[in-house]
Amino acid sequence: MKKKEIGKEKEARLIPLPKIVDSRGNLSFVEYDAHIPFKIERVYWIYDVPGGQNRGGHAFKKQQEFIIALSGSFDVVAEKGKDNSIFSLNRSYYGLYIPPGIWRQMQNFSTNSVALVLTSTLYSEDDYIRDYKDFRIYNKMNE
Ligand code: TYD
Repeated sequence: MKKKEIGKEKEARLIPLPKIVDSRGNLSFVEYDAHIPFKIERVYWIYDVPGGQNRGGHAFKKQQEFIIALSGSFDVVAEKGKDNSIFSLNRSYYGLYIPPGIWRQMQNFSTNSVALVLTSTLYSEDDYIRDYKDFRIYNKMNE
């Protein structure tokens, strides 16, 4: 990805992260600019998800995020306009970049999975689009 394109993306995208292989245990990291196009303002994580439960099911107007499966696996369904992509996250050296304006749901969590989410904004309920119909209207207006 060329530098000038970073931060102007409209689609969710898997981004490989460095993996420092070591006999003592592997290490990965994520850095602003090198791997993600936003400064991290908040980090949260989702864990102890009971079998069959989904998380997410909303979009953001401004917030960008980067989701890593720190442990275990889960799927992220990302929808923009008419397109629907499913990303299976099951390695901690990959992350899913999600720009604003994407309806996204997290599902199929494996037992003991941990989803780490890095975000570009502080928590603000005003930034959420929680109603799917509102999302479709918002999307059309921002095409
Ligand atoms: P929500 O983002 O709806 O969870 P998910 O997308 O995983 O289904 O958040 C669930 C609740 O947690 C909601 O009441 C808001 C609260 N919350 C915070 O207070 N701070 C945060 O950083 C996040 C992500 C959620």
